[in-house]
Formats: sequence, structure tokens, C-alpha cells
Amino acid sequence: ETKNIIVAGSINIDLVYEVPHIVKEGETIHSTKHDLYFGGKGANQAVTAGQLGADVQFIGSVGADDHGIRAKENMERKGVKTEAISSKGVTGQAIIQLSDVGENSIVLFPGANFLVTPEQIQESEAAFETSDILLLQLEIPIEAVEKAAELAYANGVKIILNPAPACDIPDSLLQKVSILTPNETELELLTGISADSEDNLQKACSIMLAKGVQAVVVTLGSKGAFYMTSEESGFVTAEMAKAVDTTGAGDSFNGALAVALCHGDLLTDAITYASKVAAFVVTEMGAQPDIPAEFIR
Ligand code: RIB
Ligand code: NA
Repeated sequence: ETKNIIVAGSINIDLVYEVPHIVKEGETIHSTKHDLYFGGKGANQAVTAGQLGADVQFIGSVGADDHGIRAKENMERKGVKTEAISSKGVTGQAIIQLSDVGENSIVLFPGANFLVTPEQIQESEAAFETSDILLLQLEIPIEAVEKAAELAYANGVKIILNPAPACDIPDSLLQKVSILTPNETELELLTGISADSEDNLQKACSIMLAKGVQAVVVTLGSKGAFYMTSEESGFVTAEMAKAVDTTGAGDSFNGALAVALCHGDLLTDAITYASKVAAFVVTEMGAQPDIPAEFIR
């Protein structure tokens, strides 16, 4: 049986520039290689879930331009339904510097992503009645994110919120979240506690549980993930992978996590699976590499 996932979120074109190091203030450096890739946290999550066999419906906005047309076509090719994607303004762009040691740094131009409104989300209400999971991130206006969460909550749809890029989140939104998936930086911003030890991870996750989320899954890069629910907590270690481009690793983790949970996997099994998918994604350039069939559920 196909599982239904809704993603409400962002779609970008990623302009990736390989550089010897991330440019410093006032400095000019030469990029050694440049390419365009499909990106955007929402789209990255959606195409991951689509390729893994889920039925994925996307709500968002691209620009009324060539990038927008191509981004939508790409999503359709990767198993995402795009009828609820509007076209207006300019397609969002992420200008990404990728350094020799694999660090990245991003300038985000939201463009059409910031034109997504609560009204547009409301128009897709019917999709929420037939879905298992809603995936959210924070690259569209928070009012639109909140609207999607309201519709999901009212329809008993589980919500996975990836709080990225980091920003303040209203408590009323957190209270509707089934699984919050910050990285270390985002967790620190949300709690004021740096996630540098198991003790501090415990403390920080407890704060988020107290705010009303049902579970926290902290992605720790090559160290794997740490999770906490009201019943249990612990680490799930990741497979080592030779990273060439970590852009979108967190997004593919979220997309895969949603797919596994739709199939009824235990949280720890879902995290293990999501880590394997993310570990593959970092071995290829771009945020949306083709995912091998062995991962399909
Ligand atoms: O998480 C990675 C994504 O963040 C990139 O694809 C880029 O578009 C930015 O939104
Ligand atoms: Na990648």
C-alpha cells in the first residue's frame, strides 16, 4: 500500500561554487568549478520520499521563470505531485560555496518561496484528509508553516518539523509536532544549550519535549543521531560515507525518516534507515542525487 506524504515548503535552484576556502569579508577568490543543482529544503525532502516509493504531494511556489519550470519537472520526474505548486515571482536561489574540506556556506534568496501564503495551503486541505505524514521546514513564511501544521493536526496527520534554517518557533506550532529534527546548531538556538555532550543533548531535548513536541531527533552528521521521546533516548550511529557534498543530507534524512515511519517502523529503525539514505546522498554532488533502488520501500 502506497503511503501518503505532504511536503509544504521551499524549492530552490542551488548555484554551487567550489572554492579553496569560504570567502572572507572584503576578499575576492576564484571558484574552480560551478554548477546548478535542484535544491530547496522542501523539494529535497520531497524528492527523497518520492524516490523511496511514497506518494508525495507538494505545496509551495516556484518563480514564473525557466528555473521554476525545470524545478517542477524535476520534482515530477522524482515522484512528487506538483499541482499545488504555484508559479509567481522569481524562483528561490541558494548561492552555495563548497570548500575543499567539504564545508559549505549559503546565501539564500527566498524569491517565490516567501510568496507562499496560508490561503494557498488552505486550498490543499483535501490532501491533509488522506495523508499519513506532513513534512515541514522553515524556508517559507512561518504563517504558512503554521497553517499547514493546523490542517495536519486537525486531520490526525503526523508532523515532522525540520527547524531549518534556524529561527524562533512559536510554542503553538511546537505543540503540534510529532518529531522535531534539528541539527546541533538549530538545537542550540532553540534551547540555549550546546549539544556537545550526551548530558547536554539530554537537557536540550528535554526542554523541547517540555514545550510539547512528542519526539526529538538530533542529526549529528557523521556521528549519527540522538533521539528522545517521553519513554526513551539514545544514540543511533551512522554508516561512514566518503562525503563529496553534504548539501541536503539533513533533508534526505527527513524525507527518508517520513517514509520509514509511514511504513510503521519503530523510531530507531526509521533513524537507521534515514541515516543510510543520507549517507548515500553526501557521496554525490548536489542535494538531490538519484537514490539507488535498493533503498525503495
Ligand atoms: O538543506 C540544503 C538546502 O538548503 C539547499 O538545497 C539549498 O537550496 C538551501 O535551501
Ligand atoms: Na550531495
